Amino acid sequence: MSQGKIIAIANQKGGVGKTTTTFSLGVAFAKLGKKVLLVDLDPQGDLTSYTGIYKVLDEVKIGISNVLKQQIDYEQISIKEAIVNHNEGIDLIPSDIHLSKIERDMLNAMDRENILKNCLDEIKKDYDYILIDCPPSLGMLTINALSSASSVIVPVQTQVFAAKGLGNLLNTVVKIRKHINPDLKIEGALLTLVDKRTNLNKSIKEIIKNEYGSFIKIFSSEIPLAIKTAESTGAGKSIFSYDKNSKVADAYYSLAKEVLENAKERIRSKSSKDHSR
Ligand SMILES: Nc1ncnc2c1ncn2[C@@H]1O[C@H](COP(=O)(O)OP(=O)(O)OP(=O)(O)O)[C@@H](O)[C@H]1O
Ligand SMILES: [Mg+2]
Repeated sequence: MSQGKIIAIANQKGGVGKTTTTFSLGVAFAKLGKKVLLVDLDPQGDLTSYTGIYKVLDEVKIGISNVLKQQIDYEQISIKEAIVNHNEGIDLIPSDIHLSKIERDMLNAMDRENILKNCLDEIKKDYDYILIDCPPSLGMLTINALSSASSVIVPVQTQVFAAKGLGNLLNTVVKIRKHINPDLKIEGALLTLVDKRTNLNKSIKEIIKNEYGSFIKIFSSEIPLAIKTAESTGAGKSIFSYDKNSKVADAYYSLAKEVLENAKERIRSKSSKDHSR
């Protein structure tokens, strides 16, 4: 049986590298022998196009909105029907053109925060990691992702106001923990689009440490700014096949190893707590 860990990639700030991280981390996990599913939960459908499986969302016949809708309407279609295989060893549930309408329908649905979780329960044990790419908002879709997830990764762009808004996301995590998903962990903040020519990443790290240090760790892997990464998203390939020996590919690979190490660390500290009881 697989591990069935669900990780949401979230930050309501736009353009911070959520989608690139979802795709690259997914492929890195696959390279480490893990069985991986990516879920495109953003009506923009960027992950769906970055993977190159579909060029436009109109091409998607069964996407995430069909899956969510059947859950809302108690219909009988299996989430498995929405899964497509990618040639880099991962699976994807694509976004589709109806997703923003479904987000509105979710507001009036029964058990509305758990719609996605109830859908994913059917296939959770088929995968080691399910990564959910969230839209740049804290609406129903992101809330559903956080309710389903065991942990969340927060990409943070190294820009002056990047840490602003982190508080809103962390408040949402606290609320979700309190009311819906008590086990939700914060895997860490990931510095993205890091330009080594500036010192901004140092000051952003300081701000995060000072303001949110008790809440959130910062991954030691940092994702450099590299034009080839932006090109790879347009070419429908992950950075591992577009520019495989690049610093960005290395950084995502070491991020994947850090996440695996986080999981081992949690098991170790849980078992030492259990022993000391
Ligand atoms: N390391 C990088 N170096 C250079 N460009 C990058 C890097 N990572 C991502 N990009 C580019 O930055 C842009 C934003 O990245 P991405 O789409 O992953 O962000 P996002 O947080 O998912 O955005 P949104 O909030 O709109 O969903 C894209 O054009 C992407 O190709
Ligand atoms: Mg995105």
